[in-house]
Parts: sequence; C-alpha cells; structure tokens
Amino acid sequence: MKAIILAGGTGSRLYPLTQISSKQLQAVFDKPMIYYPLTVLIASGINELCIISTPQDLPRYEELLGNGVQWGISIEYRQQNSPKGIAEAFLIAEDYVGTDDVILMLGDNIFSGGDDFPSAVTEFSGGAKVFAYRVKDPQRYGVVEFDKTGTAISIEEKPKQPKSHYAVPGVYIYDNNVIDIAKTIKPSARGELEITDINLEYMRRGDLQVHRLSRGFAWLDAGTSSALHEASSYIEAIERRQGVKIGCPEEAALVRGFLDINRFEALIQQMPTCEYSEYLRIVAREWHDLYE
Ligand code: TTP
Repeated sequence: MKAIILAGGTGSRLYPLTQISSKQLQAVFDKPMIYYPLTVLIASGINELCIISTPQDLPRYEELLGNGVQWGISIEYRQQNSPKGIAEAFLIAEDYVGTDDVILMLGDNIFSGGDDFPSAVTEFSGGAKVFAYRVKDPQRYGVVEFDKTGTAISIEEKPKQPKSHYAVPGVYIYDNNVIDIAKTIKPSARGELEITDINLEYMRRGDLQVHRLSRGFAWLDAGTSSALHEASSYIEAIERRQGVKIGCPEEAALVRGFLDINRFEALIQQMPTCEYSEYLRIVAREWHDLYE
C-alpha cells in the first residue's frame, strides 16, 4: 500500500503563523506537525510515501524530509497548485499510486494511542475504510450517521445539524478504484473536490467500512491557534508522563524494521545534543537490552 500526506492548503486560520511557513511545518510541542502523520504511517508498515504541498512550501518539506532513505523508506513529492480540495490528491498523485491501494492522511491530523491504523492497513482487503471518532463539535467535519446495527448509513460534509457526534478524521484507506472515482466527482458549492463525495460513492457501491475509534484514542487537529496550543500541551503531557515520544519517525522505522540498529545509531550521531537525540539514545539502549 502506498501513502499520501496532504500538506497543502492555505492555513488561513493560523495567520500570521502561516504567512512564511506552511501549517504542517509548525511546531507541535517538540516536532514539526508533519512528523505525527508520517510516524503513524511508518508505524503502520508503510514505506512508500508521497507528500503533496503548495509550490511555495514543497521545497521546505524536501529539505526537512529528503527522499526518506535516512529512515529506510522512500518519499516523493507532488505539487498542488491551488487548494482545490482533499480529493484532488488522487488526481495529482495518480502516477505515483499506480495500481496500488492507497492511504491518505491529512498533514495536520495528530493521533495518539491504539493500534487501529496498523491493523486496518494489514487487514485491508478492498473498497474503502474510513474512521469515526466522537467529538463535541461535529459540524466542522464530515459526520457519519450509524443505524441501530452500527452500520454507517450517511456521511455529510460540515452539516449545520449533524445527525451524530461521529466525525471522520483525516485518514482514509482506499483500493485503486479511488483514482477513477476521483475523476468523476464534481467540485462542491465551496469549489472543492470533497473527500466526502468519494466516501459516499464507496458507500453507494456498498464498499465503505467505517471503523469507530475507541474512547482512549486521541485525535487532535491543529488548524487553529488554540487547537495547535492544545495539541502541543497534550503531546507534552503524555511525553513527560510516559517518557516516550509521540511522532518520532526514527523510532517507528526502527520498530518496523525499515532501519537497523546500526543505521539508527548513525542517525543519532548526526544530531545535535538535545532532548530529541537523547530520547533516541534511550530507545537504542532499550533495543540493545531487548535483543542482545
Ligand atoms: P483545512 O484545514 O480544511 O484547510 P487549510 O489547511 O487550508 O486551513 P484554513 O481552513 O485555516 O485555511 O485542510 C485540511 C488539511 O488538508 C490540511 O492539512 C491542508 C490539506 N489540504 C490540502 O493540502 N489541499 C487542499 O486543497 C485542501 C482543501 C486541504
């Protein structure tokens, strides 16, 4: 399965932070925001990724993440000339996806806890799989309605009167039909190719599965200044309490076997002395204790 991280958009709600730097490069506590979705993907066993961003911001992502070889993965880049909607990702990355299944993640979605995504990737066997997460303010998102048997029966994009409290987070898994479906959908009233329209088409075909994320799972989106601050505080609290980092691609690559311990330790050598490299040294020590 290939992965796309969508890291374009305008980030207008984060102005003036986003005047000179992309939203998904902003700090969420101690790392750039994009590290979080990237780590979820690596931890799910994905080692081929494509990052889509704006013409202005793409060079910054390339500078930060390179071609991925340092983490034992491959990263390619594609450009979205203007923010014409999340579903446009499949048109932009058509050549990249080829004939594979694909997982799309939004670059400003932050998750913590549970193994729902790795399991979903491993078990995926066609159609579409999206997730549902209970939130207080569902009207800002795509909202799923379930019937009494727990089957998803409707999805509405940013409804004024939501039919449930279940929002669809920015992680979507599709079979290769998504490319053709993306070519058939039309821009919505706000002029965007909506991911909800893709999900509705899978639902119409009887090919959409909606997996409810458990209560202990955290989904944060970092689209406003307050949300960004809350996400940083949340990550800081968990990291301080547990002594583990969330959103650390090097660690995920080691655990997944994309990086061996020698290359992992060589990476640490190239880093400055800081909390991040100190953490990776602890990970390496624990790895030696476990496996030697
Ligand atoms: P949004 O948060 O809905 O939009 P935005 O990032 O442009 O922010 P704002 O509303 O403050 O102006 O986008 C969700 C995610 O999807 C975010 O990571 C940006 C990304 N995105 C794109 O990359 N291209 C697009 O065309 C759209 C609509 C979103």
